[in-house]
Amino acid sequence: MPGGRSRGPAAGDWRLRLARLALLLLGWVSSPALTPSAASSTSPAPSPASAASAPPPPPGRCPPPCECSEAARTVKCVNRNLTEVPAELPPYVRNLFLTGAQLAVLPAAAFARRPPLAELAALNLSGSRVEEVRAGAFEHLPSLRQLDLSHNPLARLSPFAFSGSNASVSAPSPLLELMLNHIVPPAKELQNRSFEGIVATALRAGHALRGLRRLELASNHLLYLPRDLLAHLPGLRHLDLRDNSLVSLTHVSFRNLTHLESLHLEDNALKVLHNGTLAELQGLPHVRVFLDNNPWVCDCHMVDMVAWLKETEVVQGKARLTCAFPEKMRNRVLLELNSSDLDCDPILPPSLQTSYVFLGIVLALIGAIFLLVLYLNRKGIKKWMHNIRDACRDHMEGYHYRYEINADPRLTNLSSNSDV
Ligand SMILES: *[C@@H]1O[C@H](CO)[C@@H](O)[C@H](O)[C@H]1NC(C)=O
Ligand SMILES: *[C@@H]1O[C@H](CO)[C@@H](O)[C@H](O)[C@H]1NC(C)=O
Ligand SMILES: *[C@@H]1O[C@H](CO)[C@@H](O)[C@H](O)[C@H]1NC(C)=O
Ligand SMILES: *[C@@H]1O[C@H](CO)[C@@H](O)[C@H](O)[C@H]1NC(C)=O
Ligand SMILES: *[C@@H]1O[C@H](CO)[C@@H](O)[C@H](O)[C@H]1NC(C)=O
Ligand SMILES: *[C@@H]1O[C@H](CO)[C@@H](O)[C@H](O)[C@H]1NC(C)=O
Ligand SMILES: *[C@@H]1O[C@H](CO)[C@@H](O)[C@H](O)[C@H]1NC(C)=O
Repeated sequence: MPGGRSRGPAAGDWRLRLARLALLLLGWVSSPALTPSAASSTSPAPSPASAASAPPPPPGRCPPPCECSEAARTVKCVNRNLTEVPAELPPYVRNLFLTGAQLAVLPAAAFARRPPLAELAALNLSGSRVEEVRAGAFEHLPSLRQLDLSHNPLARLSPFAFSGSNASVSAPSPLLELMLNHIVPPAKELQNRSFEGIVATALRAGHALRGLRRLELASNHLLYLPRDLLAHLPGLRHLDLRDNSLVSLTHVSFRNLTHLESLHLEDNALKVLHNGTLAELQGLPHVRVFLDNNPWVCDCHMVDMVAWLKETEVVQGKARLTCAFPEKMRNRVLLELNSSDLDCDPILPPSLQTSYVFLGIVLALIGAIFLLVLYLNRKGIKKWMHNIRDACRDHMEGYHYRYEINADPRLTNLSSNSDV
């Protein structure tokens, strides 16, 4: 390959610069000998006329382990075990695939180049073992519309990963689509920090993502949606929360997502949707909601949701939704339930319930009879009380007397002597 050179991943900045300089000189000296066809696949494609007259400085060539297509404006570095983002990237690149690499860290301004990659619109970093994304990692990519960071164990995601490194002056991000599927790291690397909180912080920093239209957060074990996560993403059209562990949406507000078109909530742990959520979803003009494979609990709390399902057009495939609990309702279709089916029984089995009722009645009867007997015998009881009082008084006086005897030391000695 013309201009090809070995660049080990461990090569330092200094060696890199030296190599680049040498290359530049080499290119200058040898360019008349180079045929345009030999350079066509790797150089940034000047028009043949200009190539013949003056050799252009190479602002960025196809990095050796990658495949570049200028016609498709695409650079693919797929499964190459790269340990860092290539220092040189052709300036025409519009789609960059850096998948199956071993990047570990995306430092600040990881894609900033001179001149900047002004055309780069889609960046795919899926499955590249990225563990840390530092503040401003995607800065200086003015056309970046789509970013796929899925399948990376993001243990350290800077709050300013998607905004500028200086959040107070960060311009709005140009991102329209952000894929963050399956980015939850192993629990031990989170060290008690809440993954939900980390993601929410990065998504709201500096309101940078207010233009975002698609957000994918599938397969991240999310237990809840942070309350203000969606408040900073008012432009969302598509929200994918599939395959998480969401139990409830009670504290989430969808009200301001007026452009929302699809909401994927399949394969979560939702038990019921309450009135507030139902009203908010119903209030969104274009939304379609996907609710399959949630363990719906069909008791009295389900009445509102069933009534809503029968009316609404918002839920896709609503006839597929079935109960998971309680046992007697398992696999019943939600749409076919009547409110008489939906009760909140105590958990006791029916036979035991009736015996408890019977026991209660018997105890009440016994209590009533006891009170009646007391009432009828009230005179006898009074007399009995008096007797007891008198007996007590006699006893107390006797005790008093003995106490006085004991209190007199002489008598005490006498009595103890007499005991002997
Ligand atoms: C990348 O690394 C894996 C395992 O470490 C190896 O099997 C594979 O051949 C490497 N690929 C390249 C292109 O070096
Ligand atoms: C990114 O690359 C992965 C792996 O090739 C692929 O599955 C995924 O669909 C790509 N993302 C986008 C947004 O095209
Ligand atoms: C951010 O930018 C503002 C204005 O340029 C500056 O005053 C501030 O010190 C910067 N903050 C950081 C952390 O760099
Ligand atoms: C995480 O929490 C457990 C108990 O809740 C504690 O023992 C442990 O030290 C904590 N780990 C860190 C890194 O904070
Ligand atoms: C919705 O938007 C209104 C006005 O834009 C704002 O006052 C309100 O706080 C927002 N509500 C939520 C839950 O974000
Ligand atoms: C939910 O809304 C319906 C209709 O607006 C109402 O009849 C029902 O009482 C509400 N349920 C609760 C628990 O507030
Ligand atoms: C539920 O209501 C429908 C219509 O009111 C009725 O046809 C059906 O028999 C009822 N089902 C049950 C189990 O009560």
